[in-house]
Amino acid sequence: MPPVKVLENIFWVGAVDWNIRHFHGFTYSTHRGTTYNAYLIVDKKVALVDTVHHSFASEMIEKIKEVIDPSKIDYIIANHVESDHSGSIKEILKLAPNATVVGTANCKAGLEKHYFGNWKFQTVKTGDTLNLGERTLSFLEAPMLHWPDSMFTYIEKDALLLPNDGFGQHLASSKRFDDEVDQNILMEEAAKYYANILWPFSTLVTRKIEEVQKLGLKIDMIAPSHGIIWRKDPMKIVTAYLRWAKGEAEKKALIVYDTMWDSTEKMAKAMLDGISSEGVEVTLFRLPVSDNGDIIAALLETKGLLVGSATINNGVLPTVAPFLREMEGLRPRNKLAAAFGSYGWGGGAVATIEKALKSAGMELVAPAMTVKWVPDSNELQKCYEYGREFAKKIKATE
Ligand code: FEO
Repeated sequence: MPPVKVLENIFWVGAVDWNIRHFHGFTYSTHRGTTYNAYLIVDKKVALVDTVHHSFASEMIEKIKEVIDPSKIDYIIANHVESDHSGSIKEILKLAPNATVVGTANCKAGLEKHYFGNWKFQTVKTGDTLNLGERTLSFLEAPMLHWPDSMFTYIEKDALLLPNDGFGQHLASSKRFDDEVDQNILMEEAAKYYANILWPFSTLVTRKIEEVQKLGLKIDMIAPSHGIIWRKDPMKIVTAYLRWAKGEAEKKALIVYDTMWDSTEKMAKAMLDGISSEGVEVTLFRLPVSDNGDIIAALLETKGLLVGSATINNGVLPTVAPFLREMEGLRPRNKLAAAFGSYGWGGGAVATIEKALKSAGMELVAPAMTVKWVPDSNELQKCYEYGREFAKKIKATE
């Protein structure tokens, strides 16, 4: 794939990773692959904004060579230390040994601890600028969006924001721009990205967007370092981020569970029928056969969460524990929740679930529903009613 002109004298020189199916180790499924976006800015001085995963270094370098001799690169702007963006700095510095790496103080410390290189480094902070000739790069620190080193780069002349991971999506495509791809797929992947990567930092997301708005920066294009570039309607993703950061969601329900001898599953399905009878859309995921990243993505736009587990060894099934841990880490906002499950003698699963959901910051809206051994028809009716009441609480939210 050749370099792609993004704007006059600004080129996409990144790589498309069609085959990656897991990100951050195995924590985040990437069914549609991803891209590592690097941008080459050719002015009196030449700057490369971010690089690509090290396994795609040669692809990036070939693209750069189609535009300029890589030895002419003066600056490598490192918006973020994580290796999917910094992984080819070493390779490009072999071809551009006089280039200066530019990033935050945390970026400098992070790169040194990742690559142990003795590189020329220019530390920048919010408000600092770097003149390239016709263009001036402005830097805006964005700590914990999503690492301490994270930074946005802005180019006033082009009204272009380069926010690295912010506003990205794991979406491999032969297309580069938002007006060229399916909007539903684009927003689905953008939401999954937010839920799995940025959700715990929602307060900071809101603050950073407000900070940019107060600065009055004109933004005609947002070019993240993963996925598709927002040029047709960059405010579409900004509006979505503000909504997700506030914890706004649709009046829908999610049932996430695992079962041992089908009793908890029978409860789950009776609850599903009860919720559905109230006209509330509900989706059911059995944990061992479902993808965690997909469940988390679905939860982003869902108001209510029911979590169920059979009891084993006084606690939840081992298949349920990682999901609860994810909830405690991601801390989804403004969710209504409740626990349910079957048991034989002691019923510790629901207590474990409730503790985790509370710790995740969710509002428990009903006492846990439990059934001893196998639910009979009366108990299934109670589960159905429990689902109905849960749906009514969802509908009553603003
Ligand atoms: Fe795409 Fe935080 O790296």
